[in-house]
Amino acid sequence: MDLDRLVNVDDFHAAARARLDPMAYDYYRSGALGERTLAENERAWGRYAFRRRTLVGVADLDARTSVLGSDLSFPVMVAPTAFHRLADPEGEVATARAAAAAGTVMVASTLATVALEDVAATGAPRWFQLYVFTDRGLTRELVERAVAAGYTALVPTVDTPTIGIRDADQRNRFVLPPGMELANVTRVLGPDDARSGSALRAFSAQFDPSLTWRDIEWLAGLCDLPVVPKGVVHPDDARAALASGAAGVVVSNHGGRQLDGEPGTADVLPAVVDAVGDAGVVLVDGGIRRGTDVVKAVALGAAAVLVGRPVLWALAAGGQAGVERLLGLLRDEVLDTLRQLGVPRLADLGGAHVTRHP
Ligand code: GLV
Repeated sequence: MDLDRLVNVDDFHAAARARLDPMAYDYYRSGALGERTLAENERAWGRYAFRRRTLVGVADLDARTSVLGSDLSFPVMVAPTAFHRLADPEGEVATARAAAAAGTVMVASTLATVALEDVAATGAPRWFQLYVFTDRGLTRELVERAVAAGYTALVPTVDTPTIGIRDADQRNRFVLPPGMELANVTRVLGPDDARSGSALRAFSAQFDPSLTWRDIEWLAGLCDLPVVPKGVVHPDDARAALASGAAGVVVSNHGGRQLDGEPGTADVLPAVVDAVGDAGVVLVDGGIRRGTDVVKAVALGAAAVLVGRPVLWALAAGGQAGVERLLGLLRDEVLDTLRQLGVPRLADLGGAHVTRHP
């Protein structure tokens, strides 16, 4: 694959589609039910327009930032997504190395096909996404492993009382291929279940639909790492998260894979930013496909964004090198957008630089 010919997320998507096993491609691409939220996520960024300033001196640009102690070369982090070995034999290790090379953070998923300790061994800056299992002892064990392996923040997913219904996965009867396992949870499921094709089903049986913010409070008390719940879209939930000890929230609808029919994250971000104020950080994911989307998100008050599917497409298209190229392209687009917009430093970006389309 000549990666130089891939110049945007759509190119990576097309290349990935051509290379991936159709069952894996469908799993990555799908949204829940009618996929309205999946589509809205991308569309919603288009509802904001820039208010450009001119002749402000943009010879020197600085897109660096820092989120909860993690330095980022630009405000894009790698979102937690499942099963990277479906896309590349090195799986999450390749993604982590690419994130490190790009000067950003990998948010490793519980649903990884490489154990969290092996992702950590790459030395990449890393946060850990987790589910709170019905069995809190097992949850605690996962947290202890993440702490021991040097992860620097915990990102509990709070939009998944149960895995969303995705038509393609039902049609395909999605299973992990032989030789792949839910590497973080062999101890949770038992090696046979974790390695069997139906591992995802066995795993999701561990999701606890009785979760409340009290469980996030419990999680926050387990260790000193900042806790940043992912899947908040309502300002009251953002307040509840902070009251439970969270250091911030990730505005997310799980890439449109859970409740179909909710708005794009760009549409709910401003209200969450207002609710959080100075009391925590706000991150956002969902439908971010270009540097312009990243800059809009930061202008609306996000500290940084997370990208999920684009990274999977890049991993499938070119492994570690593919992800490095994708992140490099996004960084170039962010810098270009700042320059065109008349904002030399990310810290100067704010609400005055965007407006809602009428
Ligand atoms: C898992 O989190 C998924 O969305 O499939």
